Amino acid sequence: MGASSHLPSPVSSRGALLLLLPELVLATHAGITRHYKFNIKLQNVTRLCHTKSIPTVNGKFPGPRIVAREGDRLVIKVVNHIQNNVSLHWHGIRQLRSGWADGPAYVTQCPIQRGQSYVYNFTITGQRGTFFWHAHISWLRSTLYGPIIILPKRDVPYPFVKPYKEVPLIFGEWWNADTEAVIRQALQSGAGPNVSDAYTINGLPGPLYNCSANDSFKLKVKPGKTYLLRLINAALNDELFFSIAKHTLTVVEADGIYVKPFDTDKLLITPGQTTDVLLKTKPDFPNATFFMAASPYFTGLGTFDNSTIAGILEYDDQPSNSSAINRKKQLPLFRPTLPPINDTAFVANFSSRIRSLATTQFPANVPQTVDKRFFFTVGLGSSPCPKNQSCQGPNNGTRKFAASVNNISFALPTTAILQAHFFGQEKGVYTSDFPINPPFPFNYTGTPPNNTLVSNGTKVVVLPFNTSVELVMQGTSILGAESHPLHLHGFNFFVVGQGFGSFDPNKDPPNFNLVDPAERNTVGVPSGGWVAIRFLSDNPGAWFMHCHFEVHLSWGLRMVWIVLDGEHPNQKLPPPPSDLPKC
Ligand code: C2O
Repeated sequence: MGASSHLPSPVSSRGALLLLLPELVLATHAGITRHYKFNIKLQNVTRLCHTKSIPTVNGKFPGPRIVAREGDRLVIKVVNHIQNNVSLHWHGIRQLRSGWADGPAYVTQCPIQRGQSYVYNFTITGQRGTFFWHAHISWLRSTLYGPIIILPKRDVPYPFVKPYKEVPLIFGEWWNADTEAVIRQALQSGAGPNVSDAYTINGLPGPLYNCSANDSFKLKVKPGKTYLLRLINAALNDELFFSIAKHTLTVVEADGIYVKPFDTDKLLITPGQTTDVLLKTKPDFPNATFFMAASPYFTGLGTFDNSTIAGILEYDDQPSNSSAINRKKQLPLFRPTLPPINDTAFVANFSSRIRSLATTQFPANVPQTVDKRFFFTVGLGSSPCPKNQSCQGPNNGTRKFAASVNNISFALPTTAILQAHFFGQEKGVYTSDFPINPPFPFNYTGTPPNNTLVSNGTKVVVLPFNTSVELVMQGTSILGAESHPLHLHGFNFFVVGQGFGSFDPNKDPPNFNLVDPAERNTVGVPSGGWVAIRFLSDNPGAWFMHCHFEVHLSWGLRMVWIVLDGEHPNQKLPPPPSDLPKC
């Protein structure tokens, strides 16, 4: 337990008690305030022999790491020095009554314009683990992202062996082209966007790509130690398998929630997910080096980046004899085997292994009853090609690709939804009639209906405070069945059930896990299947929910939950800070 268990008895060591008190106060009460300054500015970066000027934070790619403790307050001043409008999101941080700091452009704030700044100010309450920050407007997150590490309160141990070292591994995607041009062109033509040229680990494509061997992520380890790898998938459009040759990983945390530890040699991580794994190194110097590799999981019809990224796991040799350096050069190199591209069975099995600890210290507070049920279809669709324009989307290029929830392709407003809600000015911004069911039922994962047209709208669901929600998200096979990593802002949810085919409201709920389901902020809606989640609307604000594939987000696979204030003063959203950007 916390610092209190280290408290000496007052009788035996009064002096020590007095000395310890300030520390005790720090540990058990409010944390400290940590200030960061994020200057958004262009920086020339070269990868794969292509140099381009990219938006960065403080000139760094990937961006700086934020490290804090549970209970700390983060005050991050973001100054925008580039042409593009920018907003930043602190992915997975719940923003309890600090929704103004959440970051998605046109949902909780207007973006920060060139020359303007905004101070994101929020407290980390009841959370610890691995998260990340990223830009939340258009495709700027392709270069604007970085890890957030929330350590437990001082003197509170992990519920697993103390690691010798902790290392974040953040996966990304690199385009030689300007990603803003990539998505602009795709939205214009209605076709799928160009795919990335490489995946990256900590911004480095590594030895398997042309002209990239010198840009490799290397993890140097000592034998016989335990390393905590904090895996983050910040890629735009690809779920990734990951494996380290000839090593077993122990999964201990997912999306910043401890899980029942389990061993695996391969895992899947979707964009928006984080996974902490323990890597126990070999007891002795193994006379070999090992690839840590990731490759995509994909079942859809479109194109995708079908490449493999590798980092290098290298054992530190004690240079006990003069031949050590020579030996290193000739060491054999092992590559892991990753699952086949479309290994949906592996994905389903892996995600079902993730379970909450569900202990007294780390309970799984699964809502046991449900106030409101929602059934959302998620998937692709199309919209008509505007007259006198030529398109390259589906139906032989007569349509544009779109994506939807309950057939609504969500249109972002030109002002922020949270502001409109807070000041009672929703007229002309959004309507509160987001459908709780799809417009008509069909065999969701069978032969798709002929009409794939989506409708456009800015519709939200309004939830009273403390509503217990059950949401079934049903994948469709319209224009191809594929997995959709759905991310919910403002909450963690419990993944109470998943399955293939169409959800059966009679047969499936009795099998729900209401005891130790995974608690997370991003879940893959299975390709050709469904997932059921539950959450409690205990955080007032406007909360984005969307597919964390940037292309699907751009196509409209997004919606907003508005959670009303509760009765008590500490259940209300405070007014916005005075520097909240204007549109
Ligand atoms: Cu990581 Cu709405 O995003």
